[in-house]
Order: sequence, then C-alpha cells, then structure tokens
Amino acid sequence: MKNILCLPGDGIGPEIMKSALAVLAAAAPMYGFVYELREEAFGGAGIDRHGHPFADCVKEAMGRADAVLLGAIGGPKWDDASVRPEQGLLAMRKFLGVYANVRPLKVHPNLAYLSPLKEDIVSGTDLVIVRELTGGAYFGEPRELLEDFARDSITYSRAEIERIARYAFETAMKRDRRVTSVDKANVLASSKLWRSVVCEVAKEYPAVTLEHMYVDAMAMALVTNPKRYDVIVTENLFGDILSDEASVLGGSLGLLSSGSFGADGPALYEPAHGSAPDIAGQNIANPIAMIYSLTMMLRYSFGATAMADAIDKAVDDTLRSGAMTKDLNPDEWLSATDWTQRVIDALR
Ligand code: IPM
Ligand code: MN
Repeated sequence: MKNILCLPGDGIGPEIMKSALAVLAAAAPMYGFVYELREEAFGGAGIDRHGHPFADCVKEAMGRADAVLLGAIGGPKWDDASVRPEQGLLAMRKFLGVYANVRPLKVHPNLAYLSPLKEDIVSGTDLVIVRELTGGAYFGEPRELLEDFARDSITYSRAEIERIARYAFETAMKRDRRVTSVDKANVLASSKLWRSVVCEVAKEYPAVTLEHMYVDAMAMALVTNPKRYDVIVTENLFGDILSDEASVLGGSLGLLSSGSFGADGPALYEPAHGSAPDIAGQNIANPIAMIYSLTMMLRYSFGATAMADAIDKAVDDTLRSGAMTKDLNPDEWLSATDWTQRVIDALR
C-alpha cells in the first residue's frame, strides 16, 4: 500500500490534480497498484484553512507519505499575506530535503509546430534540467531588506555541490552520458567553487562527457540549439530561470513536469508551471504536466514503470489523435475533463 499525499493548492491546481487522480484511479486496478490518498490544504489554500501555507498538520502528513503530489500554488489573493504561498513551498522543499529538482523536456513531434521557435530547431529536443533546489540565493544568509539597501546571498558548500553534481552524473549515466554544468564562474565566487567541485565529481564518471557553460551563453544556446543538450545541471536561481525558458520550447508551459528528490524521505512531484489564476475554474487548464508528474512519481518513487509507460503512451496517443486542450489549439479544443477522459479511454 502506497501512501500518496496530495496537495492540490491554488488556481488551476485542484482541477489538474483531479485529472491526474482520475487517470491514476483508472490505471491502478489494471496494474495491481494499491494506494491510499490523503489530501491537505497547502499554499494559499493552507493560508485560508490553517492560517499558514505550510501548516504543522501537513508536515505531520509528510511523515507518513511515500510521495507528495503537488498541483500549483499562489495567486493575487495572497499577495499581501504575512507568509506568502511561495514561502510555504520553499519551506516544504527544505523540510523534505529535496535538493535535486529534475525537469525533463522532450519536444513532442505533434506539438513542435506550436513552439515559439522554428520547428527544425526544437524537434528532437530531449534534455533534462537538474536544478539544485535547497541552496543558493533562495536560502543564503545574510539576507535583509531595509529602506535604502537590500541584499541576498548566494551560498554553496562543497557538500551541497557534490551531491547535486553526483545526481546529475547518475542521471546522465541512464541517458546519453553528457552533462553540461552551468555557472557564472567568470564573476561569482560560488560559481568558481561550483565548477571546481563539478570537475572533481566528474572524475568518478569517466563514461560521462562534461562541458561547462556560463549561464548567459546557456540562455542563448537553449533557444538556438536546444537539441544539443542531454543533462543540464545548475544552481537554484539559474535553474529556475533556465527551466522556465526551456519549458516553452515544447509548445506550451502546460507540458513540463518535475520531480524533486532528497537523500531519503518522500519525493515531491509537481508541474513546472504556476497556478494560472486567470483561467482557474473554467475547465480549460492543460493537465498534461500534472499527469506527467504523476507518471514520474509512479516511476521514480514506486518503480511502477509499466503503469507509468502506459499512461505516458495514453497521453501520447491522445495528442496524436489530434485531441487538444485549449492552450494547444485555441480553435478546436476539448475541456480538461473531456480531454482527460480521452486519455482514460486510450488507456483501456
Ligand atoms: C518554481 C517556482 C518557484 C521557484 C516559486 C513559486 C517560489 O518558480 O518552482 O520554479 O522559484 O522555485
Ligand atoms: Mn520557476
């Protein structure tokens, strides 16, 4: 029995979560997958229900969870909250110790024409961004905000860099054995340490080819030649920016999933997109990134590979059949629930 903690969150979060859970409910009996769901209010919903985005009862539930599935959080409603939903998310990442955030980007052949870039530039792209998630500017001290002065600190220890580098090399060993490490070592001290530690860890992986790139050049290369890359590893803030950039290459922000992993304890799975409050409640949100987050969970937390592959294939078949959500084809689209039903039909 697997315990899955669901945090639907805010905006479109609850809708896309419903889609993913419907797919899970349909697939599980076909593969003998037995699970129990527990739902908690997190993010803005947590503020509304518990007065805090990451309340103690959610922390307790994490102790019993085998994996955490998160929808999306945030929205203008909580802009002035004393603790914002985003702070809850950062606190949860730290609490779970999920230092490795994995964001895969595979451009779907049927959707390459939707990319803001020329089809021949993006088609064939199959890369994964490994973003360090619990260090750097997001958590570094000192930080202060005064009337006329403010500062943040990018801090990294050798141990923090070692473990994320190792994670990236291990990921590359299961893929095309190429790692691109992204830093700003021509300027930043934290990046100089980053680069030298990555070089040291690389010695443990002679089968993997390592290259280094400055983050500005990487931002450019992602839109000029994305198919050149296999595993891109980088620090927290650079990874945040580059993964948003990468996420639209495949045609829609609604396609990119993510998994966050620590040394032990439950992993966290969530779409890379936000809560899109402007389209919430209209049954038009694209559930694909959420469904892909679900299949990442099945694969990496539960080893339910056949089931995950079948669901991924059902999504693929549905897209190939021409059935689209509104973001993918504004002229001819299905509602999110109808589109999800097509996936479930394809699964059967
Ligand atoms: C992400 C998001 C978060 C981040 C925000 C919501 C704090 O942009 O998961 O990429 O910056 O990490
Ligand atoms: Mn982001």
